[in-house]
Amino acid sequence: MKTLIKNATVVLPSGIAEVSVLTDGTKIVDIDAAIQTEADEVVDATGLHLLPGIVDDQVHFREPGLTHKEDLAHASRACAKGGVTTFLEMPNTKPNTITVDALHDKLEMASTRSFVNYGFYIGATPDNVEELAAAQRTPGIKIFIGSSTGNLLVDEQAALERIFAETTLPITAHCEDETTVRANKERFAGTTDIHDHSRIRDYEAAYIATKRAVDLSHRHNHRFHVLHVSTGAEVELFQDHRGLLTAEACPHHLFFNVDDYDRLGSLIQMNPSIKAKEDNTQLWQALLDNKIQVIATDHAPHTLEEKQQPYPQSPSGLPAVENSLALILNQVNQGNCTLEQVAGWMCDAPARTWDMVDKGRIEVGYDADLVLVDMTLKQTVHNEDQLTKSGWTPWHGETLQGWAVRTWCMGHTVYREGQVDESRYGSEVQFDHTRGGYWA
Ligand code: DOR
Repeated sequence: MKTLIKNATVVLPSGIAEVSVLTDGTKIVDIDAAIQTEADEVVDATGLHLLPGIVDDQVHFREPGLTHKEDLAHASRACAKGGVTTFLEMPNTKPNTITVDALHDKLEMASTRSFVNYGFYIGATPDNVEELAAAQRTPGIKIFIGSSTGNLLVDEQAALERIFAETTLPITAHCEDETTVRANKERFAGTTDIHDHSRIRDYEAAYIATKRAVDLSHRHNHRFHVLHVSTGAEVELFQDHRGLLTAEACPHHLFFNVDDYDRLGSLIQMNPSIKAKEDNTQLWQALLDNKIQVIATDHAPHTLEEKQQPYPQSPSGLPAVENSLALILNQVNQGNCTLEQVAGWMCDAPARTWDMVDKGRIEVGYDADLVLVDMTLKQTVHNEDQLTKSGWTPWHGETLQGWAVRTWCMGHTVYREGQVDESRYGSEVQFDHTRGGYWA
C-alpha cells in the first residue's frame, strides 16, 4: 500500500520543510517537494504538520494480571488517538516481567492485542541477574530502586552493584530512596492529607536515589536512563553525562505542582510525587537545555474508584498517553518550544536512547510511523472521551490547542479523526544495542 502525503509541513531531522512524504509497505521511501508517482492513497495535508510517530518509553499497561485497570487493546487505542506509535512498557504487571519467559509471553500477547508498536522492559529483582544478562528483544532493564506500585524493589547496594557489573543492557530506574521514604512515612503516620504525599516522597528521596544511580552508572561505565525526573535539583546530576546518562520528564511533573492537590487531590498522586511550581519551570528549562532529553508519560492507570479512596489507600499513577502530544503541542502554540524540539524529545531522543531500529525520524528507510497534527485545532479534554480503560484523565476540562488528526503505524492508518482502525496489529520494536544509545 503506497501512501503519498502531500502539502504537509514536515518536521524532518534537518528542520521543518514543505515536502511530500511517500510510504510503501512499512517504510518511508521518498521525501521530496515534488514526488511524481502513483499511490494507493494521496493525502492532501494542506495546513497540517507531519511529525514522526511519538515514542513513549515509559508506560504501564497492566497486562497481564491487572486488566481491570487497563489492557493492551485499550491502551494501544489510546496511543493511536494520541499519536503514540511505539510504547515501551514496564515490568510491574502480574506476574512481574522478571524472567526471559515472562518477557516473551508479553511480546507474544502484544502481537495480537496491541494496535501500535511495542517493546517491554525486563524487571530487576535482588537475585535475577542471570535472567537480566540473558534477555534479548528488550530495550533494557528496569530497576525500582525505590518501591512504587507493585512489589519490585532492589535497594541493597550489593544487589545493585551486581546488576550494573554483570549485565550489558541499558538500565533505567525509578529513583526514590526507600530509606528516606520509609522514615518520612513514619513521621507522617496516620495522615490522610494528600499534600503529605509530596512530603513523604520528598526532594531528598528523589535526589539521594538519583545520585546513587548516577554514581553506579559512572563507576560501572554502564548506560543509564533516569525515569520521570521530578525536581529541578536532580538536573545538576546530569551535567557530567559521560555519554552514559539520559533523563526523562513527564507531563505531570511539567504541568502539575503541589498547589494542584486542592483541585485534583489523589488524581495527581504519583511516584515520584509532584513537586513545586519552581520545579515545573526548572524541568522545562532542563529540556530546553538538553539536560533532560526525553518526554514520556509514565501512563499508570488505576480505576477512578481506586484513586478516590482516602489517602494513603489511594494508589499512585495517572493515565496520559492520549493527551501527552496535545499537552506539548499546546506549549508550542504558547511559544514555549518548537515543533523540532517536540520531535526531538518525544520521537528521536527516546528512539536513540533505547537503540531502536528505524524509529523516531521522518527519513528515507525509517519506519512509516507518522502523526499528522492540526496545530489550530482546539479541543477540550473530557473523561467521557478517553479510550484508556480507566476512563478518566487528570486533564479533564482543559482546552488544548494542537491535536493528532491521523496516525500511521508501519504505513497503516491506525487512527483517523476520532476512529481507531483495528484491522492490523503493531510490530515488535527491534533494538540494536551495539549502537551505543543517545550520545553515540
Ligand atoms: O505513580 C506511579 N505509578 N509511579 C510508578 O513508578 C509506577 C506507577 C504504577 O505502576 O502505578
